[in-house]
Amino acid sequence: MSFKYPLPNSNLYKKIDRTISPKCEMFKHGKQNLNNDDENATNYYFYSADFLVNNLKKFFTDEGISTENKTILDFAAGYGRTTRFFKPIFKEVTCSDLDQSMLDFNKENLGIDGFKSVVNFEEKFDVEKKFDVVFCLSLFTHFNPNIWEKWFKKVFDLVEEGGYFIMSTRGPELVKKFLGKKMEGDMSFLQVNETMGRLDPGYYGSISVSPKFVEEKTLTLKNISLLKYYSMGKCDLFQDVYIFQKRLPFLQKLFSLFISSK
Ligand SMILES: C[S@@+](CC[C@H](N)C(=O)[O-])C[C@H]1O[C@@H](n2cnc3c(N)ncnc32)[C@H](O)[C@@H]1O
Repeated sequence: MSFKYPLPNSNLYKKIDRTISPKCEMFKHGKQNLNNDDENATNYYFYSADFLVNNLKKFFTDEGISTENKTILDFAAGYGRTTRFFKPIFKEVTCSDLDQSMLDFNKENLGIDGFKSVVNFEEKFDVEKKFDVVFCLSLFTHFNPNIWEKWFKKVFDLVEEGGYFIMSTRGPELVKKFLGKKMEGDMSFLQVNETMGRLDPGYYGSISVSPKFVEEKTLTLKNISLLKYYSMGKCDLFQDVYIFQKRLPFLQKLFSLFISSK
């Protein structure tokens, strides 16, 4: 018997479009894990996203950061499971993923514009602007460790100076819960994924990492601060969540301190 998820009852949930794409791999994968129970899979689909976004909303409120004048990019958005929850909170929401059908679904059903991403980190994104917040759920849970850091830097580059980068990983507690044993070392990678052949499992597999791994991979960036780390269950139901800030260059920081002290 699998756990029965309730539908969310938050104010945020009341405001979102609830269309699910029949192509959505997140839905299909969830349904498979929930004994093919359509209703429970639908509840899980929205409950998990609602839980996460309401926790992020609380983070911003607690920090005194208003989101209604900020832009957000949902990078690796898929068919907009979580993306749609940002619409009532942010000034402007953009999405990105690899398939045109995802971008089309998000535009047609959710009214959210997007740009197509690239598989190879050496290729350029088709976007000039930076975003106040870049959100990336369940992508750094997949990258091959050889390209993980390169991708971290590439996605972090889309963050505006002073802005925030929110990303998730599969952490030690999740490994313990599902494999019943302690994670060995700081990283484990398997060449398996849920895309039924759409993405190469050598590039996009399944990776679990410790906070130490994340710290080591981000150390070489000079303009990053970790504001908050949430272990599994504290912000997302299953994944660890990290909230980074892109630090302002020194002079600009001095200037903004001067302005705010006036
Ligand atoms: C596990 S799904 C998560 C989807 C969504 N974030 C969610 O939680 O519902 C991971 C997504 O990453 C996308 N992806 C993989 N490589 C990518 C890349 N290089 N750029 C953008 N998206 C990518 C996949 O196509 C897939 O939609």
